[in-house]
Amino acid sequence: MEFSQALHSRRSIRAFSDKPVPQEIINGILSDAIESPSSSNTQPYKVAVATGETCKQLGQELLSRYYKINKIQRQPLPLKLFNVATSKAMPDGDYKPILGKYPGIFQDRRMHTGKGLYDVLGIKRGDKKARDEAMSRNFTFFDAPVAIFVFIHPGMKFTALVDAGIMMQSLMLSATDKGLGTCPQGALGMWRSPLEKHFDIPNGYKLVCGLALGYPKEDEKVNQYRPNKIALEELLIRSK
Ligand SMILES: Cc1cc2nc3c(=O)[nH]c(=O)nc-3n(C[C@H](O)[C@H](O)[C@H](O)COP(=O)(O)O)c2cc1C
Repeated sequence: MEFSQALHSRRSIRAFSDKPVPQEIINGILSDAIESPSSSNTQPYKVAVATGETCKQLGQELLSRYYKINKIQRQPLPLKLFNVATSKAMPDGDYKPILGKYPGIFQDRRMHTGKGLYDVLGIKRGDKKARDEAMSRNFTFFDAPVAIFVFIHPGMKFTALVDAGIMMQSLMLSATDKGLGTCPQGALGMWRSPLEKHFDIPNGYKLVCGLALGYPKEDEKVNQYRPNKIALEELLIRSK
């Protein structure tokens, strides 16, 4: 695939076929990702790759936590407060998500993108149940046979986050080039403890993001969704 074609055709995939991804293809994609630039070549990231039974088990563990916290959200206040304080299902990720609205135009873009996605999925604005169901699919990686979890060493401060982002994009473009689909998933940063059961995570490393990897399910409308990108003028800071 031409590089530009890979760049333009990559889109987040949210429906995967159950076709397994051969280990040598996974290794090829990861080897491509390793070629990424990083601050002073520190490469302050590590990845945990879940396939087969591990992927299935992790998906079920994360999904069950999602259902539990969803139930807690709907409880009357005193019970909710009690469960928030005591439930083992509460998020234990390393980075807290932004609660509530994003600042300024970012909230508008978020809403617009979310609405576009729900429209494609045929989910009405007030249909909380269907929205929860759609959200829950994050935790089984949209049925992808491979889930990748990205960790950084926070001692490298903000540069580690930049480096991890660049590495993830290389990984996603390499996957696109090989006919695979990906979805970067912040949602997979919500819980760390289920990962600790399956992986020997080195000391100090923090979970930043997850990523689903697999072959896109053909003819799924959700995979045709093409959210707007900003115009060049919006990217540029005007000169004085
Ligand atoms: C850091 C990061 C976290 C994301 N988290 C999620 C997520 O949890 N669930 C999801 O469905 N998509 C997630 N996405 C995908 C974005 O929604 C998607 O990249 C955006 O809407 C642009 O669409 P595109 O990837 O198809 O170009 C995430 C993307 C990034 C870069």
